[in-house]
Amino acid sequence: MKKLFIIVLSLFLFSGTAFSAMIIKLGVVTKPGSAQNIVSEKFKELIEQRSKGEIQVKIFHSSSIGTETEILQQIQMGAVQMGVITGGPFDTFDPIVRVINYPFIFKDNDQADKILDGPLGDEILKSLESSGFKGLCFSENGFRNLTNNKTAVKTPEDIKGLKIRVMSSALHNEIWKALGANPTPMPWPIYTELEQGVIDGQENPLWVMEVYKFYEIQKYMTLTRHVYSPHIDVASLKWWQTLKPEQQEMIQKSMKDAAVFQRNDNRLKDADRIKLLKEKGMQIEANPDIDAFRAKVLNLKNIDLYKEPKVQALLLKMLD
Ligand code: PAF
Repeated sequence: MKKLFIIVLSLFLFSGTAFSAMIIKLGVVTKPGSAQNIVSEKFKELIEQRSKGEIQVKIFHSSSIGTETEILQQIQMGAVQMGVITGGPFDTFDPIVRVINYPFIFKDNDQADKILDGPLGDEILKSLESSGFKGLCFSENGFRNLTNNKTAVKTPEDIKGLKIRVMSSALHNEIWKALGANPTPMPWPIYTELEQGVIDGQENPLWVMEVYKFYEIQKYMTLTRHVYSPHIDVASLKWWQTLKPEQQEMIQKSMKDAAVFQRNDNRLKDADRIKLLKEKGMQIEANPDIDAFRAKVLNLKNIDLYKEPKVQALLLKMLD
C-alpha cells in the first residue's frame, strides 16, 4: 500500500506531461457513432498521439453542454475551446455561411471537397474570425434528405403543409417555406417530437436515419439531396491566440486529417444505409423530381438573407 502511495505521489510530482497536459473541451450535440462524433474521436486520437499526451481532448457529446447555438456562444467566450458544428446554426453568427448552405449549390461530394478545401472554403473559414471563431476545416454531415410520416414525396406538391423540423437557421426556414412546407425550427435532438407527431418530418443525411433509428418513426424518405451540409470544425479564436505556433499547427493538421478520414468513412457507408433503411421498412423515393424542387428555390438568392455585399458577391461567384 505504502509502495503504491509513493508511486502515485512521484507520478504526481515528477510527471510533467501527465499533470500539465492541456485539456481541450470539444462540444457536439450528437451521440457516439454520429458523423460529428467520428470526426471528434479521430481528432482526439491523432492530437493525443502526436502531442505525446501533452494535448488532451475531452469530448462533450449528446448536447451535454447545450445546443449547437449554445456551444458556439461558449466557444466565442473561450469557455469551450472547440466544436464540430453543422453549417445551419452558424448562419446567425456569420451570414457568409449561407453561401454554402444554399440549396442545390453542390452537385456531388467531389465538387463539395474541391470548393470547401479550396480558396472559397478558406475565405469562409477566415471570415469566421470576425465573430470570434478560428475556422479550421470542414468535415461532413452530408447531403440532406427529407423524411416524413404522412405521405410519399416525389414533387414539391406532395410537401404542401407538412410540418417539417428545420435547424435553427433563418435560411433553412426560408428553403422549406419556398418548398411549400410548414417549417418548424427546433434544436437537436428531435426523436420524441417526431414520435409524438409534434412534427411530421425532418431532413438530414442518411447516417442520421440509421444512428437515431428514425426508421422506427418515419415511413417515407425522399432522396432530395437539397443541401450539402458540412460541419464547420472550429476553435475559439480567443483561446487559439494563446497557443504556440507549433501547437496551432499540430491542432490544425490533426483536425484536417480527422475531417478527411470522416468524410471518406461517411461516404463509404452510405450505400449500405439505403439498404438497411429499406430493410427496416422505410419507403424510399430515390428519383424525386429534382428540377421541380430546384425551380421552387430559384429565387432564394434575392432574399434579404443574401443582401450583405460580401455574401451576395460570394454566392454569385459560386452560382456562376
Ligand atoms: O439536423 C441537425 O440539427 C443536424 O444535421 C445534426 C443532426 C445535429 C447533425 O449535425
